[in-house]
Amino acid sequence: MVEFNCSPLSRYQPLPNALSPEQEAALKTLQEQFSITDETTAKIVDGLNNAMDHGLKGTGEGLLMEPSYVTGRSTGQEQGNYLALDFGGSNLRVCLVNLQGKHIVSMEQGKHKFSDSIKKEKGVVLFGQIADFIDTFLTEQRQIGNLPKSQETALNLGFTFSFPMLQQHLASGVLVRWTKGFENFDVHGKDVVQMLQKELDDRGIWVKVNAIVNDTVGTLAASGYANPSSQVGLILGTGTNAAYYELTENITKLKPEVINASKEMIINMEWGAFDDNKKILPLTEFDNKMDSLTWNPNQQIFEKTISGYYLGEIFRLIIKKYIDQGIIFNGKSSNQFDTFEGVDTAFLSQILDDGSSELKAVGEVLDKSLGIPQTTLADRIFAKKVTDLIGFRAAKLAGIGIAVVLLRRKDLLDKPVTVGVDGSLYEFFPFFQAWMNGSTRKLLGPEYSKNVKFTLSKDGSGIGAALASMTATNIKV
Ligand code: BGC
Repeated sequence: MVEFNCSPLSRYQPLPNALSPEQEAALKTLQEQFSITDETTAKIVDGLNNAMDHGLKGTGEGLLMEPSYVTGRSTGQEQGNYLALDFGGSNLRVCLVNLQGKHIVSMEQGKHKFSDSIKKEKGVVLFGQIADFIDTFLTEQRQIGNLPKSQETALNLGFTFSFPMLQQHLASGVLVRWTKGFENFDVHGKDVVQMLQKELDDRGIWVKVNAIVNDTVGTLAASGYANPSSQVGLILGTGTNAAYYELTENITKLKPEVINASKEMIINMEWGAFDDNKKILPLTEFDNKMDSLTWNPNQQIFEKTISGYYLGEIFRLIIKKYIDQGIIFNGKSSNQFDTFEGVDTAFLSQILDDGSSELKAVGEVLDKSLGIPQTTLADRIFAKKVTDLIGFRAAKLAGIGIAVVLLRRKDLLDKPVTVGVDGSLYEFFPFFQAWMNGSTRKLLGPEYSKNVKFTLSKDGSGIGAALASMTATNIKV
């Protein structure tokens, strides 16, 4: 029997003799491929620190480590109504955020789902659609009385843009490259604040985009509103990334006058691009295959081992290999398993959530959602174990990353420190939080660990954009 000690919290044990010797052998190989040893962990810690150092110095190597121009920390007492736009994946949100002081926030929001086709359109079409959507939201808010019917000045808007960008100040963001499936390539190298502003102006929508933040930066700012001890903002959703407060004296690529103006600044790490030259992470044949199938091979390698956009595809490739070898599902495949991106990560959550001895829910997912009607218990155990390996590795890697980031500011670790987290993986993927927590704490050691707390910073990116907009103007909507 294979020892499955990779996920200590797994709520199920394989039944004796349920798996065939071939299945056991396959799982043993997978377990080896997906394990992160202590030795590998040490390499990742060194590699990430090195990539961060390069980024802060601006050597052109390592991570982007983008200065956000958000300095200072929230007290949680700020008040007022602010507009925010949250654009980071398939969903777009416009929010009217009410900061009530005393760490309390309420929010009205409108959601819009992008069609897949918009992801390939010209930038002017994409930003035109966003401007139209803002207009619709404002009209609705005026009708229900949340905004005055007429306005005397432009409404300020904080823009959360969850893609790699270069910032020279709070109100500009030049797209470095798209991630997470967007392919509006003519936007590369352009300032997205200006692009959105132009579409708003062309339509006579009286809104001024006065601040832009990455979602990690927004999440950290929002987390700081609720818990002023917040030091890191983390996103674990479709994509992954982290931001943290760095001492400006360490961000040597900044101009001296910027360094001298404030003690700290939030840095958007863009950690998803860690190890893009594939030298450090123990990538499996499945990671490499998946990477080669994406439109951006050799980019976002760390992200591709962790985040929701990719985990379903890794699962599909593993299962497909063993279907083709006749080791599971009686060798029968389905459209979903035969198609690139045919398996959504949400199904992995459902599979892992099944703690029953017969794994009935796993059978249902395989049947109803993934096109495999007849499964044996062994098939279902196999599918669940594969999910477990993928999820555990993702959580462990994210946890290592967070430990590295926290240890950059040891000066803060002898007091309570909060990591604000948002994203579907963190919220809904079974065991992810506990696995990640364990991984971080192992590296921090007991003394520092006891001061570190992870909190869900739900909708943080919208709230954070509102806070940035407030900082930028201090003029209420
Ligand atoms: C983007 C980051 C973003 C992260 C989480 C990544 O693909 O590059 O800018 O913060 O996704 O949304």
